[in-house]
Amino acid sequence: LCDVIVSPIVSVDWRANGGSSELPRVVRIIDQRRLPTEYVERDLRTTDDVVDAIRTLAVRGAPAIGVAGAMGLVAALSAAPTTRSVRERLAETAARIRGARPTAVNLPWAIDRMLRCAAAHADDASLLDALAIEATAIRDEDRAACAAIGSHGAALLGALRDQPGPLTVITHCNAGALATAGIGTALAPLYTLHAAGVPLDVYVDETRPLLQGARLSAWELSRAGIQVTVMPDGAAATVLRRAERPVVVIVGADRIARNGDVANKLGTYPLALAARAHGHRFVVCAPTSTLDSTSRSGTDIEIEERDGGEVTHLAGQQLAADGVAVFNPAFDVTPHALISHYVTDRGVVHPPFE
Ligand code: MRU
Repeated sequence: LCDVIVSPIVSVDWRANGGSSELPRVVRIIDQRRLPTEYVERDLRTTDDVVDAIRTLAVRGAPAIGVAGAMGLVAALSAAPTTRSVRERLAETAARIRGARPTAVNLPWAIDRMLRCAAAHADDASLLDALAIEATAIRDEDRAACAAIGSHGAALLGALRDQPGPLTVITHCNAGALATAGIGTALAPLYTLHAAGVPLDVYVDETRPLLQGARLSAWELSRAGIQVTVMPDGAAATVLRRAERPVVVIVGADRIARNGDVANKLGTYPLALAARAHGHRFVVCAPTSTLDSTSRSGTDIEIEERDGGEVTHLAGQQLAADGVAVFNPAFDVTPHALISHYVTDRGVVHPPFE
């Protein structure tokens, strides 16, 4: 499915190393800050490269930053000067990458898995190879998880579709191929249904302030041939109120607490409230690497606050008066009570959730 629909979107991978028998050591990402007007790939070789790419959202989306973090750890350890061994540099390099962004649990999940791999691998001479193999496995598992979410989610959405004709869907931010190593999480069921010939009418919130919906989701959905409409975030409630047939709201997640509360892109929570107010389903899609058993509820989840300039300025243009205070959380928490289904790589979780 990935090959048929979205093969050119490889948001994060190893850079091909020209047929050499050495394992690859450089990470290649699509620079998502430049989309949709420019398609630019970028190589990450050092710790600074990796941390900067994650912080500035050149690579973004919870699963993609987990994969980029794991691969980036290998790149950073290969690139640094070699007066200290890989093992001596491992902990500090891992800590820097792990701390690049705080909310998506996939990043610490992937880095901790890399550290466990290193701890289990006694031979220092082959440590980098072992880490490269582990990072590749994290990538491959994410691809497989996306495909599984696609088929479980398509079965669910197919069952929620009440009659022939297009299924209307609203999504927020970007939880597609750009946000993962595969075909996405929230967008995976849409690609799967589209491949099966089910007509879709997808509304995408622009997703202020960084416009991941308008710039990224609309780009990848429309290039796959899916009918897509971009709207200001505030228009979603109107679409939900006016709908004459059931609408499915479908989003990804950055971290899911033990009680089912979901941290996702700012604006997810009001969308869930509007879906509940107008009687529509609100579906969350995520791989099991996004489940965080250490957070009891959403209040335990650290929410990243980003620079106010993202709100007061747009593409260098000033929007707000000089010196105004800004509140710019990158994520919000949707209480589990507003969520109708969770779609994971292991299947669909239906209510009651206890
Ligand atoms: O700040 P971003 O663009 O990394 O935020 C991304 C989201 O909130 C996504 O919905 C989430 O990571 C799921 S991606 C499959």
